[in-house]
Amino acid sequence: MPLRDVTAPAVARLETGIGELDRVLGGGIVPGSLVLLGGSPGIGKSTVAAMALGNLAAAGRGTLYVSGEESAAQVRLRAERLGERALDVPVLAETGLGAVLAALEAERPEVCVIDSVQTLQAEDASGAPGSVAQVRGAAAALMEIGKRLGVAVIVVGHVTKDGSLAGPRALEHLVDCVLMFEGERERSYRTLRALKNRFGATSEVAVFEMRSGGLTEVVDPSARFVGEATAAPGSCVLCAMEGTRPLLVEVQALVAPTEIVPPRRIATGIDRNRLSLVLAVLARHGGIGLAGADVFVNVAGGVRVDEPGADLAVAVALASAHRGEPVLDGSARPRACFGELGLTGELRYVAHPERRVAEALKFGLGSVIGPPASEPIEGLADHSTLDSALRAASAGTKIRRAA
Ligand code: TYD
Ligand code: MG
Repeated sequence: MPLRDVTAPAVARLETGIGELDRVLGGGIVPGSLVLLGGSPGIGKSTVAAMALGNLAAAGRGTLYVSGEESAAQVRLRAERLGERALDVPVLAETGLGAVLAALEAERPEVCVIDSVQTLQAEDASGAPGSVAQVRGAAAALMEIGKRLGVAVIVVGHVTKDGSLAGPRALEHLVDCVLMFEGERERSYRTLRALKNRFGATSEVAVFEMRSGGLTEVVDPSARFVGEATAAPGSCVLCAMEGTRPLLVEVQALVAPTEIVPPRRIATGIDRNRLSLVLAVLARHGGIGLAGADVFVNVAGGVRVDEPGADLAVAVALASAHRGEPVLDGSARPRACFGELGLTGELRYVAHPERRVAEALKFGLGSVIGPPASEPIEGLADHSTLDSALRAASAGTKIRRAA
């Protein structure tokens, strides 16, 4: 059949009432879809699931919370912390797949949460609960019943310490949407990212903060992160892109002389290999060799930035830490940076320079250092090499000293 003759009715999405979550989903939950919600233990998967169901129930939607991990009493205790709405959600504490499917068949909720998929056990499938065969079998059965009855199913899946979605990874191809919770349990900021989305853009990210009443949306994370930024040596503001949204974060670096061979390279919030690359380019093309020093780089606030546009900010933060000079503009405001480093020391174009610069200006930061764009951008001081960008980054301090 030619595609133009295929009827595709517009489906109304189910809004979870959590704006950031809806945005990551591409506008809400699609009826009948299967969503995988992954993350390490204790990150807040059950919390966000319970909050979303509570809001949906309050909006008159049929919901069901299947808990295989916690008893109904434990689920209730969490719901009590989340407020009145979360208490209206029906709960089923069950690990048998057959019983769960039967409950879905009987109740026909519009949205159902399975917490977690690893605890489900099909009576007829081989393997222990959580094994790849069991997890796949359970997901396939949930998918089938979800599509048939129009039940949107959110399956929660744990991720092991090394970051692989051990069991759940085996589900990625099957589900419509993969959401990943990231951040460190000890810190309050959490990011929720779409790694795959058949109904929306991927690499959208939501920022949450864990508080005593559950997860709170951080609607303007840039303001938060920039407000917390210090203007001390080793700190540099990065204009990152998180999906389609610009995000200002603080990159911090510490360079400490060491006798240890090889010296330590510790990266939190950025990729370790990317740090090695930045260090090599800095040594070869920026005149800053750190072979005799331990290097620590941290994206403040527990956020993770996975884009090459972070390179320059990391290099500038390292140079600033090495020299003991803050990264300021002529009027002593922190300067923001972005740009990818090439292996020959050039500063390379990254996507959406205008949005990055606009975000920095919005938060009162001075002129932004970045790669040349195809058209001039107001507020962007463009540099085509690392060397000249580094000079520009330390110029503010020099101006102040001379004054
Ligand atoms: P949880 O959602 O159970 O994590 P997961 O399902 O991903 O394993 O809870 C995460 C942590 O959040 C837990 O240690 C307790 C804490 N928490 C709060 O700080 N405030 C709250 O309102 C709730 C419900 C939990
Ligand atoms: Mg949980």
